[in-house]
Amino acid sequence: MSLQEITLTLNGETVTKPAEPRTHLADFLREDHLLTGTHLGCEQGVCGACTLYVDGRPVRSCITFAAACDGAEVRSIEGFETDPLMARLRAAFTKHHGLQCGYCTPGMLATAYDIVRRLPDADEPRIRAELSGNICRCTGYAGIVEAIRDVLANDPPPAQVLSLPRTRRAGTGSASVMATAAPADEPAVDLPPLDEAALADGVELTRNIALDAPADRVWAVLRDIPAVVSCIPGAALDGPMTGDVATGRCVVALGPMRASFVGSARVTLDEVACTGRVAGSGRDRLSRSRLDGALSFALHPAGAGASRLNLSMRYLLKGPLAQFGRPALVAEIADRILADVAANIAARASGQAVPDRQKPLNGLALLAAVLKRLLRIN
Ligand code: FES
Ligand code: FES
Repeated sequence: MSLQEITLTLNGETVTKPAEPRTHLADFLREDHLLTGTHLGCEQGVCGACTLYVDGRPVRSCITFAAACDGAEVRSIEGFETDPLMARLRAAFTKHHGLQCGYCTPGMLATAYDIVRRLPDADEPRIRAELSGNICRCTGYAGIVEAIRDVLANDPPPAQVLSLPRTRRAGTGSASVMATAAPADEPAVDLPPLDEAALADGVELTRNIALDAPADRVWAVLRDIPAVVSCIPGAALDGPMTGDVATGRCVVALGPMRASFVGSARVTLDEVACTGRVAGSGRDRLSRSRLDGALSFALHPAGAGASRLNLSMRYLLKGPLAQFGRPALVAEIADRILADVAANIAARASGQAVPDRQKPLNGLALLAAVLKRLLRIN
C-alpha cells in the first residue's frame, strides 16, 4: 500500500513521517513515535483507552486515521506532563484511588481534563454521564468520579468554549478530523450514489408500530420531510429539498465521540396509498464510515384516533464505526431508534412537543438500554 507523508504538531513539536492511509493515529504515535502512553483497548472506538487531543478536542485515536490529522495539533498524554491542570487531576486520581492497573488511565485523564475544562459545574450524575465512553475494568469508577469532583470543588478552571475544528490544509483530503457535531457550514459530501444491490447484504429491520394519532394527521407529518427530520434526534436538513432529494446531517454520540453523518436521500411518496420510501447515503468524515440505507413505510388507519405504521428498513454500515458493536446489537439499537422516531411522529401528529429534538442520538445510552433488555430476555 502506498505511503503518505504526514506532518503534524505532536506535543508541541512538528513531526513528519510516512504512514499508510489505513494507519490509525494511535498506532502512528505508538509505533512511529514510541509514545506508548496512548493505550489501545478495543480498537473499535468503544472503551476510550486511546482518547487524546486533536486541535484541542478529545478524540478516539484508534478510529482516527493518522492521515486525517495531517496539519493538526495532536496532544497525547505525554504532552500533558507539565500541564498544571493535568497535574492536579493526576494528584486527585492518586488521592482518591482512581486507578489500579492503569490501563484505562491515560484515556480517563484525557476525558477528565475535558470535563473539568468544559463543565466546571458538573455534578456527580453529569460526571458519570460524561465518563460513560471510558471503560475501567478495575476501579468501579467511584475513585475516578471523586477525583474529578475534587478538582472541580477546589478552584475549577474557567469554562472553555471550544471552537469548531479548523480546516485542514488544502489537498490533505480530510477537512475535519474531530468528533463533533456536524457544523452547518460543513460542506455536503459528494458520495457515490446509493448502491441498491449492495444493500442486499445489509441488515433488515421491520417494525409494525401502533400510533396514538389518526392516519390523516400522521400522514400530514410523514409527507412533510422537514417535519419528519424534526422527529429524528440529532438530525437536520441543510436547506430546502431539491426536487425529491433532501440533503442533511445526523449526529450520533458515543460517549465523548460524535459521528456526524452528512449525506442525501431521495424521497418518494404515494399520496393515495399513504406509502413512501427514503433511500440514501451518508458519510462520517472523521471515521470514514459510510451508511447506506432505504426505509419504506406504509400507513394504515387503525380505528378512531389511531393508526398503524409499517416500517421496513435495510441498511449497510461500512468502515470503523461498523465495528463498534456486534451486528445484533447494532440492529437492536437501530430498532430502538426507529421506535423513538415513530413515537415522535405520533407526538407531532397529536400536536405535542417533540422532546429533545436537538439532542444527538446517544448510542451509548441506547446500547445500555438494549443490553439491559437482552440480558432480561436471555
Ligand atoms: S482503543 Fe480506542 S476506544 Fe478503545
Ligand atoms: S484502572 Fe485498570 S482498567 Fe481502569
